[in-house]
Amino acid sequence: MDYPNPSHGLRSRVVGTEIAVPLLDGAWATYINFDNAASTPALVSVRDGVDRFLDYYASVHRGTGFKSQLATWAYEQARQATLRFVGAAPETHTCIFGKNTTEAINKLARRLELRPQDIVLTTEMEHHSDDLPFRAAARVVHVRVDAQGRLNEADFDNQMRRHGKAVRLVAVTGASNVTGYLNPIHRLAEKAHAAGAMILADCAQLAPHRAVDVRPLDDPQHLDFVVLSAHKMYAPYGTGALVGRKDIFEAGEPDVRGGGTVEVVTTDTVAWAEPPDKDEAGSPNVIGAVAMMLAMGELNAIGMPAIAQHEAELTAYALERLRPLPGLRLFGDSDPQRASERLGVIPFQVEGVSHFQVAAILGHEFGIGVRSGCFCAHPYVLRLLGLDHDRAEAVRMTILSGDRRTMPGMTRISFGLYNTTQEIDRLLEALAIVAAGKHKGRYMQEPATGEFRPDGWAPDFGAVLRFS
Ligand code: ALA
Repeated sequence: MDYPNPSHGLRSRVVGTEIAVPLLDGAWATYINFDNAASTPALVSVRDGVDRFLDYYASVHRGTGFKSQLATWAYEQARQATLRFVGAAPETHTCIFGKNTTEAINKLARRLELRPQDIVLTTEMEHHSDDLPFRAAARVVHVRVDAQGRLNEADFDNQMRRHGKAVRLVAVTGASNVTGYLNPIHRLAEKAHAAGAMILADCAQLAPHRAVDVRPLDDPQHLDFVVLSAHKMYAPYGTGALVGRKDIFEAGEPDVRGGGTVEVVTTDTVAWAEPPDKDEAGSPNVIGAVAMMLAMGELNAIGMPAIAQHEAELTAYALERLRPLPGLRLFGDSDPQRASERLGVIPFQVEGVSHFQVAAILGHEFGIGVRSGCFCAHPYVLRLLGLDHDRAEAVRMTILSGDRRTMPGMTRISFGLYNTTQEIDRLLEALAIVAAGKHKGRYMQEPATGEFRPDGWAPDFGAVLRFS
């Protein structure tokens, strides 16, 4: 395949893509960010838009001055933009801003007023944030994945049949943060609704790469709840959103109480406000919401199909070249022909080298940022690695004893809309060196974290960026 225009002109829309960073051997290299599944850099339009907004920023909701009113208007515009971005009707769905996806799911788990006997049907593929909040409130059942990490839909059907009306909520990720698999969320929604359950689609990974469509409530395939993190959507200003059915948030009491959540209070009564105010206690992160609105506008202007196409090209290019590399083991679907059916998230291991060390060498010797470990999805990663129960238990005990040196895991690369095939070429050269054991540094492993650090060298952050 020929790639004449490696980033389709998208690279210049992103902040910090040409920043040089220091390497172990004293050289500097342009930083490559292949950790977009964790966080994306900001879009230029987001940074510039936030800068413009800061001139007008003032207290929202309760201020009477022009700037306060403008800031309130901007904040409410961001709310409407978020609803539109995920195809949710303001008549049926509300948008509650918060810190991130994790906070949004915790709120939902509390606000659903689940009972201990209620079942939340989630999957073995989930990020911990789409699993642990429900464990505190109900009985969580995990739908199995197959050995390659794909959702086992037959098991989903079995569990729905088996638990019937006890299933209150299906909580499933739109896309895996480990393998990049896309789940058939609308088909699962139809099955959940047929059984009288609701569905939450964790769209933290999906939303930066594919259009999200909540659909009308009378469509059997609609989504009841969708959660987003702006720091994965090129707007790292500390905001996330819970878009969900208004009727659920009209009922019950807020989980976090305080200023902004009420209509009227006396010393012994309180009348709660309507959603979303009822669920946004305290002063909101207006800058974050505006940043998220700006990012969604830019993603729409570029077009989600164009983003998906570019990232599929990168994924196919990477898989084609990673597959034949000696000593490299890829996890998940490694077929380049199917690159457009998944996200550009690729986990791998280098034979004989700890995933922690692979990540350290890539960072310190090549200026390539990746993530290693279990990616906040321990059950899923252990399943992909094929660890049986006894081995997984032994791992658990070792970690609990404070020693992570042998913690199983993988190294992960994940692409964003601005990455290029040239960056992938640099990664391939680096991995060939790592796999051949020809890296330059001597590394020491910290038992408590498992991380590797070069012996006798550490980057001098203060020399690169001064704050005063
Ligand atoms: N969930 C983020 C990741 O996968 C933090 O890296």
